[in-house]
Amino acid sequence: MKGVIFDCLSLLVKENFGEDKWIEILLSAGFTKFTIFPPYSDIPDEYFGKIFSSVQKNLNKSENEVADLFAEYWVNVYAPQAYPEFYKEKNNTKEFLLMMDSVHRKVTEAIPYSRPPHFEYRIIDEKTLYMYYYSSRNLMFLFEALVKATAKHFNETISIEKPQENCLLIKFLK
Ligand code: HEM
Repeated sequence: MKGVIFDCLSLLVKENFGEDKWIEILLSAGFTKFTIFPPYSDIPDEYFGKIFSSVQKNLNKSENEVADLFAEYWVNVYAPQAYPEFYKEKNNTKEFLLMMDSVHRKVTEAIPYSRPPHFEYRIIDEKTLYMYYYSSRNLMFLFEALVKATAKHFNETISIEKPQENCLLIKFLK
């Protein structure tokens, strides 16, 4: 998985919980305190699980709580700085989500054998969207947190249901 995800987690932890906390997280995940995850490199997928569980353990938070922290930092702070081009024209949650399949393809195309998450859409009407998530990493909980964070970013109210394991039914309420 691309290093930006790890870089974002580390910045979020350092900013909100201090540099020492990040070192504790690295150490308890089996890394050294000098480990860095260069944003544009490709990091083995299993490192994500190790770091993510270590963040949970060391911050004493559940998987969904860490996912929400990550998602809000990613959508509101990290991605707008790292990828400002995707924030220029899209003015609402639905437009932003509908762009996500091509965004993930674009931002990983420089990585040989990349396997970005893939999204498919079924638009029912103006206010109803089914969004399907496909990834060998199976991070549905993160996908859901990122959808919620996107709505928060655009100051919109949505409702989310999970009609099947890899699908969210999203209703845009206001
Ligand atoms: C401009 C905004 C965004 C950018 C630039 C972006 C970019 C990325 C990148 C580079 C990765 C690592 C992928 C890899 O290495 O294969 C990633 C992972 C991921 N992204 Fe995004 N992302 C954005 C917003 C979103 C949103 C809004 C969602 C959900 C609707 C989302 C869902 C995910 C998920 C679930 C992963 C984890 C990897 C996986 O499931 O395989 N992203 N994103």
